[in-house]
Amino acid sequence: HRDLHRLIRRQRQMCIRDRYRTRKKNRNPGGSAVKALILSGGKGTRLRPITHTNAKQLVPIANKPILFYGLEAIRETGITEVGIIVGDTKEEIKKAVGDGSLWGLRVTYIEQEAPFGLAHAVKIAEDYLFPDDFVMYLGDNLIKDGIKPFVDEFQKTKPNAQILLAPVPHPQQFGVALLKEGKVFSLEEKPKEPKSNLALVGVYMFDKNIFSAVKAIKPSWRNELEITDAIQYLIDRKFTVTPHTITGWWKDTGKLEDLLEANRIILDTIKGSIQGEVDDHSRLEGNKIIVEKGAQIVNSTIRGPAIIGKNAKILNSYIGPFTSVYFDTTIEKSEVEHSIILENSRISEIRRIEDSLVGQNVEIIRSFKRPAAYRMMLGDSSKVEV
Ligand code: G1P
Repeated sequence: HRDLHRLIRRQRQMCIRDRYRTRKKNRNPGGSAVKALILSGGKGTRLRPITHTNAKQLVPIANKPILFYGLEAIRETGITEVGIIVGDTKEEIKKAVGDGSLWGLRVTYIEQEAPFGLAHAVKIAEDYLFPDDFVMYLGDNLIKDGIKPFVDEFQKTKPNAQILLAPVPHPQQFGVALLKEGKVFSLEEKPKEPKSNLALVGVYMFDKNIFSAVKAIKPSWRNELEITDAIQYLIDRKFTVTPHTITGWWKDTGKLEDLLEANRIILDTIKGSIQGEVDDHSRLEGNKIIVEKGAQIVNSTIRGPAIIGKNAKILNSYIGPFTSVYFDTTIEKSEVEHSIILENSRISEIRRIEDSLVGQNVEIIRSFKRPAAYRMMLGDSSKVEV
């Protein structure tokens, strides 16, 4: 008994010491700890019907949910305390991320009753965040080179807020920043006539002054409390808001074309690895091909970059470049290229599929029933081009 008590006491002390060490590591010179706030609510209207049943942040890019790239990027900065804002899809997000220990993070879930805007999310997270500095990360954004330099710069220069910017061809689809003498002069949310080509990337850093800003602003035309307006509020009151521009690739994956592009870019960076079975009648072309455990490639050609998920079956088929096939999916006597096929679906005897996102448990099959016709059961907001 005495031994057991001693052991428990020792473990408890180790726990306290570990916690103290991580807190200390995440402290910036000003004294406050740094946390992260990931936004993973929202309705994903631009990705229906996939988002009728799934969180947009969990759509896999190169067979890994988008949100996991964000968690990895945060972990890389040394931050361990992460609040995740969840909405209607909270159960799904919680199931995927759990307590965050898989990434060495400590995750706290914060529920938002409806998507009232990014600034609203900050408002409801005040109890969790205050008085610490924090990085806010939109869960559907993918930033190829991570956010470590961005977080490091904030900790070094200590402005009140820091925004991440990237030059884009269509700035009217984003928040847009106008810079003067290296400082942020003004911000506008989705302006019709943008004053620059610098879009706000969905990653921000704030100190505690943001909380008074999010309380002071009024809802926008789309009835949301805009973070862009909250930052403008800080600028108007002479707080320092500094820009950090990235040149690397990033994407707000809210739409199909963006998801496919993200899939393309990430697949292009993979290292080949074959853990499943590839029979003698199959050909793997190019070295950027992943065949996950339990997958079977039979009498087929895979042209990389491509990834074939766990226990997927590719039979008598061609899988073209920039295709991700998620787990337990079967593709037979078909050609698929530049597409994302989610789990447990079946594609059979379809001549060719391109530029597509196919959900879970979907069947696309050739049928020989008479009369010959297209027969479908499609969810709301589906799109079929034949
Ligand atoms: C949000 C922001 C916008 C920013 C974008 C980046 O837009 O309001 O300023 O440029 O994220 O992903 P939303 O996706 O809510 O339309």
